[in-house]
Amino acid sequence: MAKANPVDEFAQRLSSSLQDGTFVRVVFSRPVAADGAPEKVLGRLVTLKAGPHLSLTHRHATHDVTKNLPVSEVASWAKEHVGVHFRSALLSTTKRDWQFFAPESGDARLTTHKPTSTAVPSRTHDQPRQTILDDSARDWLEGLGVVNDRGQVRPAMADKYAQINHYLDIFTHLAKDCGWTEGRNDGLTIADMGCGKGYLTFGLWHLFARFWKLPVRVLGVEVRPELVNSTNGLARRIRAEGLEFMAGTIESAALPKIDALIALHACDTATDDAIRRGIELGAKLIIVAPCCHKEVRPQLGRPTPLAPVLEHGLMAERMAEWSTDGLRALFLEWAGYQTKMIEFVSTEHTPKNLMIAAVRHAEPFSSKAARDQIDQFKGFFGIKHHSLDSLLTHGLGES
Ligand SMILES: C[S@@+](CC[C@H](N)C(=O)[O-])C[C@H]1O[C@@H](n2cnc3c(N)ncnc32)[C@H](O)[C@@H]1O
Repeated sequence: MAKANPVDEFAQRLSSSLQDGTFVRVVFSRPVAADGAPEKVLGRLVTLKAGPHLSLTHRHATHDVTKNLPVSEVASWAKEHVGVHFRSALLSTTKRDWQFFAPESGDARLTTHKPTSTAVPSRTHDQPRQTILDDSARDWLEGLGVVNDRGQVRPAMADKYAQINHYLDIFTHLAKDCGWTEGRNDGLTIADMGCGKGYLTFGLWHLFARFWKLPVRVLGVEVRPELVNSTNGLARRIRAEGLEFMAGTIESAALPKIDALIALHACDTATDDAIRRGIELGAKLIIVAPCCHKEVRPQLGRPTPLAPVLEHGLMAERMAEWSTDGLRALFLEWAGYQTKMIEFVSTEHTPKNLMIAAVRHAEPFSSKAARDQIDQFKGFFGIKHHSLDSLLTHGLGES
């Protein structure tokens, strides 16, 4: 008798376990492609209005994306992905576990083991993990007008609510990169520059103080005193220990040494001021989500072979944004940070959706290669001046 193909057999066992009620979980891991692919995909059976679905959580380094697949489509999805996009797949059922593995060279194989779990997990859709904005967030969400007095999200604030959630998700991943989520109890200091009404400042404080129950000092800096009065008033009313707002500017507010600096949607070169201050104040983590970009646009040259394309104003505009943010990442690398570019909010809501996250990992201003990259980049685009140029006088720049 011909031996079953391990991919087909895995797909068939997955599909039947979903139908006969023995399915526990499935995990696809060891992605074949490094770029853009999720690190893992975790599958659980959920009962939706439209019937049973396999809920697939695509776990990326900085965020999760969930897609629900009707059970009838699972076998063909598995055949397209197992061994093609993922080298490893583990199916747990109440009867047996099935492990698929495709080595880089040699034949793929399917092995079976005793079940790791004989209990069927809950099939309810909304239980995958504890939500950060739990009931203990209600007081400040209500105070900021995001939810009503029954704790329901106001329709007009649904995007803002989604943005806070997404931001806290991203921050959670970055905090893990910095080793801050477990066991650290000596207290972090975080500055949120240009914090406005404080949605994300309260969110960050909530994440540490109420959700993780870790000591934290969160300082919101805002140039408009009326906003500072109102956010400080709310912080006092809800007894938010460790959360303070101060009137001041990103460029010059008096701040202590900090562990993290955040500046979301700070206009034009205020983002650069925030980056510079984060570096000077010793922040291990710097997160900026730039807003408008004005400085580079008038300086942008027309290098070959981009010149004819850059004749189009819109393309030149986008290239100016692209190069401004690209340079910011290069300056951060020069200052000893490892940077990531993350899509912050969906492009449906705003085209200004880039977030630059930087974690310090090396001696600042010590890599000649990082320094040279800045000069080459500026030279290529004919950029004479960038707000972060003052950083070039550090380290190797002095010689
Ligand atoms: C677009 S809002 C963003 C608010 C908040 N960071 C967010 O993303 O929800 C920008 C805020 O930064 C403040 N701001 C602008 N320039 C500033 C500066 N140089 N120093 C401090 N605050 C500034 C503005 O008053 C405004 O409240």
